[in-house]
Amino acid sequence: MSRTVNVGAQRLGRIPPYLFAEIDRKVQEKKRAGVDVISLGIGDPDLPTPDRIVSVLQESAADPANHRYPSYFGLAELRESIASWYRDRFRVSLDPATEVLPTLGSKDGISHAPLALVDPGDIVLAPDPGYTVYVTGAIMAGADAHIMPLRAENGWLPDLDAIPTEVADRARLMWLNYPNNPTAAVAERDFLERAVEFCRAHGIVLCHDAPYSEIAFGGYRPLSLFEIDGAKEVGLEFHSLSKTYNMTGWRIGWVCGRADLIATIGQLKTNIDSGIFQAVQWAAIEALSGGEEETRAACDVYERRHRRVADTLNSLGWSIKPPRATFYVWAPVPKGFDSIGFAGHVLDQVGVNITPGVGFGAHGEGYFRLSVTAPDARLDEAMTRLRQLTL
Ligand SMILES: Cc1ncc(COP(=O)(O)O)c(C=O)c1O
Repeated sequence: MSRTVNVGAQRLGRIPPYLFAEIDRKVQEKKRAGVDVISLGIGDPDLPTPDRIVSVLQESAADPANHRYPSYFGLAELRESIASWYRDRFRVSLDPATEVLPTLGSKDGISHAPLALVDPGDIVLAPDPGYTVYVTGAIMAGADAHIMPLRAENGWLPDLDAIPTEVADRARLMWLNYPNNPTAAVAERDFLERAVEFCRAHGIVLCHDAPYSEIAFGGYRPLSLFEIDGAKEVGLEFHSLSKTYNMTGWRIGWVCGRADLIATIGQLKTNIDSGIFQAVQWAAIEALSGGEEETRAACDVYERRHRRVADTLNSLGWSIKPPRATFYVWAPVPKGFDSIGFAGHVLDQVGVNITPGVGFGAHGEGYFRLSVTAPDARLDEAMTRLRQLTL
């Protein structure tokens, strides 16, 4: 006698289909058919991790002291170097012992925060369009995601006044992400102040996801949430070395903020992972202590590429301005297309892969996202091809 195995928990069934997997399948199909596909679909820096960081990893990887289980809470030296980076960059003071927790990339912290901080039936407020993990993390924790639409007319900021009071009172956590993926929008101080006030009034943990804080142009310097008065009472900030130092493959970031919230996330994580390879932690310390020159140089590259993309799209009838931050271009799809249709059309006609806005949530419909993280020659070729597109 045999019984059928259950091949998927119900909570996974609540997660919306992963659109990017379908796009990837189409791209692979094109490649197999011999098309030289240029991918502008993913925000993954093409520039290499600086040599000084790679060298520290190499030396540390050879040291047997780093071959054993690492500490669950990260090396004290790494927590200290994160706190001093915060002090230098934002004039914000963090206690490295209690207010900083290294994570396996910021995605680790983002996906696990709801599991540590909310109960089934609670509400998690999530921006749409947005990084999809805010909603899937809520679902995995058994919570309900309440969507905060981001709209062009509001500068891609959520309208906090539109959140019904009964929703706000049931909400336990709010996600914000500025500079923003996918819209490339930025948040000024007054909006962050209102968000802090809102979350304090309703007892909501304000989670600010800030992996793009260093990818900014023309002298613009994005704020940390903790530059806002009172933010530490309700706030957590999620950071990453992925985008700042071209280290997406290394899987290292951190969450920082209110000590008891950090302790709770730490408690959860001790039951899930066993810390970060210490050699990667020593390399992260090297990254954070090296000043800003390399990141500024990378931003100069992105800024030049952004101008190139804006010039191309504008010559084709769009009217977009290069963004103030992030390596993303967020632009409306032409009339007569929905976002999946337009991305498919661009892939079929000219072999360039862009991301349909609806992949970031229903409110991303009508837009597409393109990332300028392709090598210059490939991006130039993509722009040449886009000029041949028939609409
Ligand atoms: C808004 C946002 N948050 C978090 C992440 C995760 O970055 P990582 O886990 O590499 O630190 C990404 C990656 O693309 C992102 O766009």
